[in-house]
Amino acid sequence: MQTAILGASGLVGRTMLGLLERQDWIDQPPLLLTSSRSAGTRRSFRGEELVCREVTESAFEGVGVALFSAGGGASRTWAPVATERGAWVVDNSSAWRRDPQVALVVPEVNGDRVPALVAGKGEGGIIANPNCSTIQIALPCAALDGEFGLRAAHVTTLQAVSGAGQQGRDELSEQAVLLAEGEQPDTARTGGLFPRRVAANAVPEIGPLGDDGYFEEERKVHIELRKILDRDDLAVSCTATRVPVWNGHAAAVRAVLERPAPLDEVRAALDGFPGLICDGDAGAYTTPAEVSGRTTIHVGRVRHEPDRADVVLFWVVADNLLKGAAWNAVQIAARLAGAEAR
Ligand SMILES: NC(=O)c1ccc[n+]([C@@H]2O[C@H](COP(=O)([O-])OP(=O)(O)OC[C@H]3O[C@@H](n4cnc5c(N)ncnc54)[C@H](OP(=O)(O)O)[C@@H]3O)[C@@H](O)[C@H]2O)c1
Repeated sequence: MQTAILGASGLVGRTMLGLLERQDWIDQPPLLLTSSRSAGTRRSFRGEELVCREVTESAFEGVGVALFSAGGGASRTWAPVATERGAWVVDNSSAWRRDPQVALVVPEVNGDRVPALVAGKGEGGIIANPNCSTIQIALPCAALDGEFGLRAAHVTTLQAVSGAGQQGRDELSEQAVLLAEGEQPDTARTGGLFPRRVAANAVPEIGPLGDDGYFEEERKVHIELRKILDRDDLAVSCTATRVPVWNGHAAAVRAVLERPAPLDEVRAALDGFPGLICDGDAGAYTTPAEVSGRTTIHVGRVRHEPDRADVVLFWVVADNLLKGAAWNAVQIAARLAGAEAR
């Protein structure tokens, strides 16, 4: 099958390319599409040198699956062009996630929607990849919902700078150097991507502020978690923070269950869910640095809220570039091809 990556020069696009290399259902090199800025740059794929091309309408001719990771504006422009030409678009941006006609897929939770979509639509359509923080929260929440019933999920995220793309990493590096040199690393000097200095700091603001008092990232968790779990009634709240972590998002979650649940049963439900690893008892955990490079999601610090056997607290980490973006998209693409991602 001919595949394409739109945003091939970006952090997520490069991660996708690395994952496609090892997929046995990929029998030809993917097309690498970018803006004019990166057109002409080269990437290696299975020992072959591929050249990035500027995206154009004709680029999507003959493409079966296109993985998009080029931001919302590019997705809104190019996804309809690609689908008109018969391609399936797996989109990493937030452009289509809230569209009621577009499925928001985490394969371990609702991946059974993919073959149904293919059967219903034949060629061409958009499938949205959820927000990176939401994906890693969705799996443990689905596991708990299935086993005990979930009433509410209250989340605090600690998000790595790689979640803001290459520019996010560049800005943290620059600020860290300024700090080490005894200079003030204020954001105006380092690109201004983050609203406040991120080096040696924590910033509870990701995305624009809404009228409801929530920043956009917090609204994404709220809306997308309900859509993935198909639970409009689920109470969800989120405080999203940016922390000076290179890669790997973490979240602390308070899950309110329908009934009291013994911790050994909770841990078994989490550990038995596809794609999830429960680290062990209440003192066990994985850190963002340790989860970097892995496709699995790790849940640790599993314990009850004091005096509430129906409320479970846990810590969850995942590689935001892998399970939070590229791996989830490649898993969806594999299903579109009738295969399993590896
Ligand atoms: N980073 C994460 O952890 C993460 C997780 C989930 C979802 N996402 C989403 O994935 C997308 C990419 O994120 P990233 O972290 O990889 O960002 P990034 O490192 O900044 O890369 C952005 C990519 O998009 C391309 N691009 C930008 N504007 C374009 C346009 N108008 N036409 C064509 N290509 C364009 C860039 O090409 P040039 O090099 O030519 O500029 C580059 O390849 C975003 O929508 C982001 O929200 C990211």
